[in-house]
Amino acid sequence: MNKKIDTNKELDMVIVGGLGHVGLPLGLSFANEGQKVCLYDIDERNAEHVKNGKMPFVEYEAEPILKKVLANGQLTISQDKSVISKAKYVVIAIGTPVDEYLTPKVRSFFELFDGLKDYLDEEQIIIIRSTVYPKTCQQLAKYLEKKGERYNIAYCPERIVQGYSIKELKELPQIISGINDLSIEKANDLFSLLSPKIIKVSIEEAELAKLFTNAWRYIQFAMANQFYMISESFGVDFNRVRNVMMDSYGRVASLPGAGFAAGPCLLKDTMQLVASCSNNFFMGNAAMMVNEGLPNFLVEKLQSKFDLNQKTVGVLGMAFKADIDDIRDSLSYKLCKILKFHGAEVICSDDYVNDKNFVSKEELIKRCDIIVVGVPHSQYRDIVIPDHIELMDLWGIAKRDVSEAANEFSNRIKVKV
Ligand SMILES: NC(=O)c1ccc[n+]([C@@H]2O[C@H](COP(=O)([O-])OP(=O)(O)OC[C@H]3O[C@@H](n4cnc5c(N)ncnc54)[C@H](O)[C@@H]3O)[C@@H](O)[C@H]2O)c1
Repeated sequence: MNKKIDTNKELDMVIVGGLGHVGLPLGLSFANEGQKVCLYDIDERNAEHVKNGKMPFVEYEAEPILKKVLANGQLTISQDKSVISKAKYVVIAIGTPVDEYLTPKVRSFFELFDGLKDYLDEEQIIIIRSTVYPKTCQQLAKYLEKKGERYNIAYCPERIVQGYSIKELKELPQIISGINDLSIEKANDLFSLLSPKIIKVSIEEAELAKLFTNAWRYIQFAMANQFYMISESFGVDFNRVRNVMMDSYGRVASLPGAGFAAGPCLLKDTMQLVASCSNNFFMGNAAMMVNEGLPNFLVEKLQSKFDLNQKTVGVLGMAFKADIDDIRDSLSYKLCKILKFHGAEVICSDDYVNDKNFVSKEELIKRCDIIVVGVPHSQYRDIVIPDHIELMDLWGIAKRDVSEAANEFSNRIKVKV
């Protein structure tokens, strides 16, 4: 039934959404392995950066590879859809967000293919790399079949941690699934170029494995945040409790520290699961309420001590996680909104995020009565916040003063985080 993959095509692969956080490092990694890769994307600004050898976002180890694969011609960038017809593999790496009601936008994912189908053929292997709502791949195959198209579709979910893709793509096992034997075999051939281990499963297993992984992490962060809030209600420092729990006791080694659990994946993927199971994934919902409620909790805590109308509050760290520049769905922004609603003057700083309204960390310290650490960038590890400033630092990363640094127990907490 399925024809063999066309070896005459001039490109090994086109990545649709190839300038994004998943598509770009994946394309670089394959090009670095000798594949002829074209990144197809609608983002003109990022296309200009990448064509000039500049990464449009923080991705460690990526820029030297980008320069190399541009120079040797293994990588090209295009905004012309027709390149898709020249590729053996078509990798889909566009965003798959939930809408404002936390419902997956599956329809727009299907409609992407309406726009691509003039350039797809039955000999290509279409690899879905985006994270999808359960049963999306099978439904997509049926959707396309109704329109008279039969494609080889594989689902190979991305599992990297943002910022470290180049390293992790070489280390992580790749999950491979597909709607037929050819797509599985060819996806296997492709990812074997990068990965030390391939795990072949059914499409349904692959879809759930990806979503469960992110929901699991999101729930773990929610546990830590809930424990933090309980500790605070007892007037106890959660970092000290956590250290006691973990001291030479491996069974709780996976308990994260408290802090904002945000970004474009964890909440979104947990909500995809919630939506997929008749809204009875209660732990997913509970995790969302705990994690999304943390900024409100912090503001309430400050309000119990101060009249925020009289205070200048500094938020140190606006990215959604440490040592990257991505602000998508960052809870630092939600924190700022709530603080402003309650009358505080709010100043922001971030060593990675380029925003003309932000100030340096030194100026933030000079101008603020209260500082909240939003994200534990490495640059904040040695920062000393003077005693007269109220400090809210869930991560335990900032230093107070020399006398406190002399406290051995507290010091140990700070170095570990
Ligand atoms: N960011 C991560 O660390 C990560 C990790 C694992 C999985 N994922 C999943 O990977 C997918 C992509 O995430 P991302 O963070 O890379 O998103 P992103 O927004 O960074 O990248 C998506 C890219 O797709 C492009 N795009 C959108 N519509 C397009 C179209 N019609 N044609 C061509 N290009 C188009 C955008 O311009 C953008 O460059 C999502 O499903 C996400 O859940 C992300």
